[in-house]
Amino acid sequence: MNIIELKNIKKIYGKNSAETIALKNINLSIKKGEMIAIMGPSGCGKSTLLNIIGCIDVPNNGTYSLNGQEINKLNFNKLAKIRNKNISFVFQEFALLKEFSVLDNVILPLNFRKMTFKEKRLSALKYLKKLQIEDLANKKVINLSGGQQQRVAIARSLVQESELILADEPTGALDQENGKNIMSILKNLNKDEGKTIIIVTHDMNIAKYCDKIINMRDGVIL
Ligand SMILES: Nc1ncnc2c1ncn2[C@@H]1O[C@H](COP(=O)(O)OP(=O)(O)OP(=O)(O)O)[C@@H](O)[C@H]1O
Ligand SMILES: [Mg+2]
Repeated sequence: MNIIELKNIKKIYGKNSAETIALKNINLSIKKGEMIAIMGPSGCGKSTLLNIIGCIDVPNNGTYSLNGQEINKLNFNKLAKIRNKNISFVFQEFALLKEFSVLDNVILPLNFRKMTFKEKRLSALKYLKKLQIEDLANKKVINLSGGQQQRVAIARSLVQESELILADEPTGALDQENGKNIMSILKNLNKDEGKTIIIVTHDMNIAKYCDKIINMRDGVIL
């Protein structure tokens, strides 16, 4: 079964002389349990595509079905629920709350769930441990290095335990060893738990962990 189906997706930013056609005509199907890399030069539309798949942006044209459900037919509340429950997103710019602690940031997505505080805390600590940053739990994000912040962003996304994991350059700020650690965590989630994973990356060493590589240029898939 296809978890993701994009048909004739077009995305335009701005108007008139400031217009940018970020995605021209994207057709893409992704099966449940696939692990996919999206590659291509800067500005070719990778983040735009991932944002649409993650339901944090909407296309100007075309249809997007997630698990057989057409996204553009859903209201705001329904969409917010789907995002929180079904989609784990790792942002290119991390999007962390900088004045809050690491633990608070990782707990955040669980605040929309029916869980006790103790359950949330344990769950967050489990992922901090996985990413080898449990000793940073009580530190403010603003005081962390770029690579540490990136791992917090990944923990915050994985704690949702969603079936679909979307990661925009998840290893961009990391050294080789931490990059490898992240990729083996993602590969295990894919193999053992059947998670569908889409990773945007410039790095061939990261892409080779994936089953398939999608190459983009100027708003189209090659
Ligand atoms: N909010 C926006 N407003 C206007 N133009 C935008 C916006 N977001 C993206 N664009 C433009 O759309 C095109 C695709 O951008 P996108 O961020 O998807 O590229 P990318 O492939 O992720 O690049 P990078 O590898 O540098 O992250 C670019 O030309 C960019 O300038
Ligand atoms: Mg990008």
